[in-house]
Amino acid sequence: MLPVRIDLVPTAEEIRPQDLAGRTAVVFDVLRATSTMVTALSHGCRGVIPVETVGEARELAARLAAKGEPVILAGERGGLKVQDFPCGNSPLEFSPEAVGGRWLVLTTSNGTRAICRAAEAAGRVLVGSLLNAGAVAGELMKGDGDVVLICAGSGGSFSLEDALAAGVVIAEMGVKDPSCLSDLAVAALHLARAYAEDFFAAFTHSRHGRKLLHLGREADLRWCARKDAYAVVPAVKKGNGFWLVQIDW
Ligand code: MLT
Repeated sequence: MLPVRIDLVPTAEEIRPQDLAGRTAVVFDVLRATSTMVTALSHGCRGVIPVETVGEARELAARLAAKGEPVILAGERGGLKVQDFPCGNSPLEFSPEAVGGRWLVLTTSNGTRAICRAAEAAGRVLVGSLLNAGAVAGELMKGDGDVVLICAGSGGSFSLEDALAAGVVIAEMGVKDPSCLSDLAVAALHLARAYAEDFFAAFTHSRHGRKLLHLGREADLRWCARKDAYAVVPAVKKGNGFWLVQIDW
């Protein structure tokens, strides 16, 4: 089965609640927030708690720890680890030893905000990346409802890598009839075809990818460029006063 309609939202700032109501949304922040979430959850993290501000993250992690919950506090601003946080936003920090059985409180510049905004309005929110593109496509093909692919972008600007991953999901769904695709979704599909042989190359052509390379994060780009490394589809749920990203194993 294929969705009746597939739309694409180019940045977190362009999310309009009325466009998401009753629909399935997939949020992409390939470099690096959603790749980090998919990695951490595949490595045994109990749940990722995305929050918008550094202050909220610090306060929530302290509250959970005070209740005896095993929690990791992680966050990034401008591609760098938040100064006093134990972890940043590199997927390489979240090995099974580091994250197994723990909650991960995470705040990033764009990805966590996009997830929180989508969760406020959409019927269902899934977390997408290149790492789980095939699994996300499979999940979307189970239903025939409308789908909105949301690119987190970077500081309100379009991000090549997010649209690329959205295009890979559309390609994996085997969409033949472009009339069910918005123009931006068609553009993403062609982006996926253009870079099909070398996703890492796409990252080196993107503004945020180049910034992370400049910050010495090439290993992160190579990690995030591995298509279908994990067959998981994290979904966003309502936690106790916060959003919670988990996998229904
Ligand atoms: C973001 O949310 O903007 C990204 O995940 C930032 C990053 O990890 O570099």
